[in-house]
Amino acid sequence: ALQASFVPNIKPRQRFTKQLQPRASTYKVAILGAAGGIGQPLALLIKMSPLVSDLHLYDIANVKGVAADLSHCNTPSQVLDFTGPSELANCLKGMDVVVIPAGVPRKPGMTRDDLFNINANIVKTLVEAVADNCPDAFIHIISNPVNSTVAIAAEVLKQKGVYDPKKLFGVTTLDVVRANTFVAEKKKLRLIDVDVPVVGGHAGITILPLLSKMRPSVTFTDAEVEELTVRIQNGGTEVVEAKAGAGSATLSMAYAAARFVESSLRALDGDGDVYECSFIQSELTELPFFASRVKLGKKGVEAVLSADAGLTEYEAKALEALKPELKASIEKGVAFVQKQG
Ligand code: NAD
Ligand code: LMR
Repeated sequence: ALQASFVPNIKPRQRFTKQLQPRASTYKVAILGAAGGIGQPLALLIKMSPLVSDLHLYDIANVKGVAADLSHCNTPSQVLDFTGPSELANCLKGMDVVVIPAGVPRKPGMTRDDLFNINANIVKTLVEAVADNCPDAFIHIISNPVNSTVAIAAEVLKQKGVYDPKKLFGVTTLDVVRANTFVAEKKKLRLIDVDVPVVGGHAGITILPLLSKMRPSVTFTDAEVEELTVRIQNGGTEVVEAKAGAGSATLSMAYAAARFVESSLRALDGDGDVYECSFIQSELTELPFFASRVKLGKKGVEAVLSADAGLTEYEAKALEALKPELKASIEKGVAFVQKQG
């Protein structure tokens, strides 16, 4: 029977084609940090995917109830809960995609880098377990500061001898989701038509929307470019301030992460037309990691799409300006793992 389709980022014509071809639910997805603000709605959205056969939810507490609750939804995947380090290995065995939103979120007045001291260790420990139990999985890092935690994950995987740079992703989809929303609003465009590539990293000025490369092609005044760029860069802070101490983006983040998971599953499933922006190991610039548009395939990143050709003067300047901060954040992540040997 046809399952309800959950493919938020493809256009209606494509969605119709997909629905004509019922596919088996065959992919196994784990969420580490599944009882959290992002983890819970993300688990719900992934539970809706017709491509998922097994959904494993891991957290250090409170995950039993989340799994019991979700398991009553009559969608194909089987939901299992795993609590604490002693159950982590079983959670991870056989997984195709591991999503990591574990860690603390910001409060007003904090930068993402202020989370480093707590989240670096959480990400390191979790990725060590991924390396030991499902080294071939796609790894989606959501925990902040993404500009450092992805480098931490890469170093851990290298130390374990299982690093595949094509399968390690910093999730920057929320920047694209925000850019699409804000630009469509400002220019009164149909949301479904709008696709803004966002490159660089995932913090402040390292987030660089390329408005000159968006679809559809739109003309902006200099003031509009400045206003939209700053709003997209501060989207996270806008939510942190509105939540006034109760955390950062969780619902829009879950939506964005679910989109990235669904894209990864479609790529694993052989769809040859899957493109997303993500923070990955890259040779696009002199920095070792850089977010850009990539083509996803069965083996992860299949192609990296160039970011610097034909940038506007504003974008080229912003690109140069972001490099020192992004470089320092990446190096901080690398040093964190290397100094522990
Ligand atoms: P939250 O505090 O609501 O949830 C975090 C969850 O992680 C909790 O359930 C907690 O128990 C769990 N956790 C803590 N230590 C763990 C460990 N060692 N192993 C497994 N689970 C552990 O926070 P949240 O709002 O869900 O945010 C989580 C992270 O995502 C934060 O670091 C936040 O900054 C980041 N974030 C990133 C983006 C992005 O665009 N990449 C967007 C929003 C939030
Ligand atoms: C976001 O962009 O919403 C996240 O990175 C969370 C934050 O701290 O802003």
